[in-house]
Amino acid sequence: MRPDTPLPWINYLGSEEFFGIVSNTAAGYSFFRDARLRRLTRYRYNNAPLDLGGRYLYVRDDETGDYWSPSSQPTRGALDEYRCRHGLGYTVIGSQRDRIEVETLYLVPLGQTLELWRTRVVNQRPEPARLSLFGAVEFCLWDAADDATNFQRNLSVGEVEIEDGVVFHTSEYRERRNHFAYFACSGPVVGFDTQREAFLGPYRGWDRPVAVEEGRCRGSVAHGWAPCGVQHVRVELDPCESREVVFLLGYAENPPEAKFDPPGSGRVDKRRVRPVLERYLEPRSAEIALDELRTRWGELLAALQVRTPSVHADRMVNVWNQYQCMVTFNLSRSASLFESGVGRGMGFRDSNQDLLGFVHLVPERARARILDLAATQLPSGGAYHQYQPLTKRGNDAIGSGFNDDPLWLILAVAAYAKETGDLSILQEPVPYDGRPGTETPLYEHLRRALGYTLDRLGPHGLPLIGRADWNDCLNLNCFSETPGESFQTAANREGGAAESIFIGGLFALAARELAGIARRLGDPEQAELAEAAGRRIADAVRRHGWDGEWFRRAYDYDGAPVGAAENEEGRIYVEPQGMCVLGGIGLDDGLAARALASVRTHLATPHGIVLLQPAYSRYRVELGEISSYPPGYKENGGVFCHTNPWIMIAESLLGDGDAAFDYYLRINPSAREDLSDVHRCEPYVYAQMIAGKDAPTHGEAKNSWLTGAAAWNLVAVTQWILGIRPDFDGLRVDPCLPAEWDGFAAERRFRGALYRILVRKPPGARARASCLLVDGERVEGTLVPPAPAGSTVDVVAELVPVESELPAGTGEQPVPLPG
Ligand code: BGC
Ligand code: NOJ
Repeated sequence: MRPDTPLPWINYLGSEEFFGIVSNTAAGYSFFRDARLRRLTRYRYNNAPLDLGGRYLYVRDDETGDYWSPSSQPTRGALDEYRCRHGLGYTVIGSQRDRIEVETLYLVPLGQTLELWRTRVVNQRPEPARLSLFGAVEFCLWDAADDATNFQRNLSVGEVEIEDGVVFHTSEYRERRNHFAYFACSGPVVGFDTQREAFLGPYRGWDRPVAVEEGRCRGSVAHGWAPCGVQHVRVELDPCESREVVFLLGYAENPPEAKFDPPGSGRVDKRRVRPVLERYLEPRSAEIALDELRTRWGELLAALQVRTPSVHADRMVNVWNQYQCMVTFNLSRSASLFESGVGRGMGFRDSNQDLLGFVHLVPERARARILDLAATQLPSGGAYHQYQPLTKRGNDAIGSGFNDDPLWLILAVAAYAKETGDLSILQEPVPYDGRPGTETPLYEHLRRALGYTLDRLGPHGLPLIGRADWNDCLNLNCFSETPGESFQTAANREGGAAESIFIGGLFALAARELAGIARRLGDPEQAELAEAAGRRIADAVRRHGWDGEWFRRAYDYDGAPVGAAENEEGRIYVEPQGMCVLGGIGLDDGLAARALASVRTHLATPHGIVLLQPAYSRYRVELGEISSYPPGYKENGGVFCHTNPWIMIAESLLGDGDAAFDYYLRINPSAREDLSDVHRCEPYVYAQMIAGKDAPTHGEAKNSWLTGAAAWNLVAVTQWILGIRPDFDGLRVDPCLPAEWDGFAAERRFRGALYRILVRKPPGARARASCLLVDGERVEGTLVPPAPAGSTVDVVAELVPVESELPAGTGEQPVPLPG
């Protein structure tokens, strides 16, 4: 293995309150809950190399003075061996140089607000080794945005305390903060530094600290400038001897009224944190914490395990796709190597969709999230585009008036209700705009979400788009001519009536889900109202949204069609082809099949389905940001991985398992591993985008990790292709598999019971289930009724061949993956 992957390949530590980003060279930063406001360690963005620094570890041979970083960075000196293993919530990086083997385990113990690095040093030399180990972090002065810009203040406010060999970062603690960070080491510590320049030396960087070079810290105490934590340990090892050293980076809070010890002294009260330090500086704690993490993840992932003929499906479904769903649920779009952690809070639309891939893992957390999201909804039924995780208040900082936003809440609640059977959530009192006293049951929030669209219909009877819909960059009311102006917040031009066919499809889907909820709540009247509204919008889509061979995308400010054959560029978009079919539009009259055939003809590439064709070659003020991207990138014709699963699901709805699975594999990260020199991002998580066919770098992925692609791909493959789909009244088993498969096996935890599912299929044929054997009893149809919690249920589905009902055009020869 080599450390110079095409791009940094990262992992996340922590899944509750304390988070760290860790790359394959141990670079990255850590934060408590909010990546902007409670940043623990400093990170310099867009650096060269991209992931320079964050967790600094140096080994020094005290005989020769030779020193290196066992994770390659920051010194980037030669290593004789190197390996990195990213696991679920932990990372291990090991290397050897000059017969000194060093392996470091990085993790955040469950329930703790700290990360530990357990470093094991082994002397493989035939003679004794005298070594020094330096561990270091550079503290961020809490607000990462301010930290990176407001130097006239920040270079003077840095403070630390040093006690019993532990470095406490206490900037601003003297005034309005009651939290602090610390960096500790199991020792034996022979020296420390807390002022960056003292440790590095003038005109030096983290790659060549003078203190490491000379094998001696300065004992510096930071007053202003750049507080850091450095711990120096000496290790003497006989041949074959090994030693473990633990470094801890932690976050702690004290009650605001009792934060000093002694009271009024200005010194941090450390009484609460001392027992934590004691516990985790004990090297055995790391092993215990790792075991606990393994057990926890084992339990989580046991909710859904499959064994299929495809190693790529198994790998992603069983481990990495679910893991990525946890990360997107936790972090929305805040902190990755592509999201700075300073810009965005939790997206309303994003979080509602992230939940679709997460709800089976920890339903209680999904429930709490739904209530948080709904509490930011506006009385009109509309939504803020995002909210801040620390305050849970909505904010307009990245724009508002995205008219699709509220509808996603209905999808999230339906997914929760189907997964858990818990309808009580609909009766929960939830405020609007976070204002106490405005509470209504959640159910009413959903009705208002639907009403919000119905109150905003345009001349074709289609939903008005507002600032944008799912496609943030299709800004039909924006008309921005000012360089650098944000498309997300620029004042919109009044008076037009730009409409979205995508929202039409989404509305049809949401209306059906709300009707399903209403029926189970014993409110058939509301169910009929929702269904009637759904039919009405679906009719408008059929009448004004059908272009002849595919669904149009929108009508612009002046009423001209977007995504229509008559357009010079951007003639066909993927989103409405997927979402209209998900909304059930065109399933009974052949439009759906024709739309999907058009996707295959115009949008499918070996690297996935591009968002539109032809890409816009010049800026079009009436379309907005979408045309600001060079052709083939991002929304302008990139493979936007979030949208591909909609087409997979649509293909499944039409019964074409070959097409669905073919699309699935094209963007499956594991299936793309052999293309890593092209793909470049991590081969274990989805990226938001893969450059489209109009781009010179076709096939290159960007923006990995924090993307709705995680949740939707998991939904597409597990619920539609494998067909294991929670429904209001039980668990559906209705696979739509590739013809060549002979079946698969799965285990699914559902409402407290375990379902052991075996699907058998005649290989070479298209086949569907028409009945099931549930614990040996024949059940007509594909719905397994819920079993009592704690029970185990055996489900067998013998698929029976079906005559293809597919019109020519779909299900053609799959385009092979390149390479
Ligand atoms: C990106 C979108 C993103 C939007 C909002 C755009 O530049 O292309 O993917 O959703 O900004 O921040
Ligand atoms: C990324 C955003 O987070 C998401 O909300 C949006 O739907 C897509 N970009 C497409 O624009």
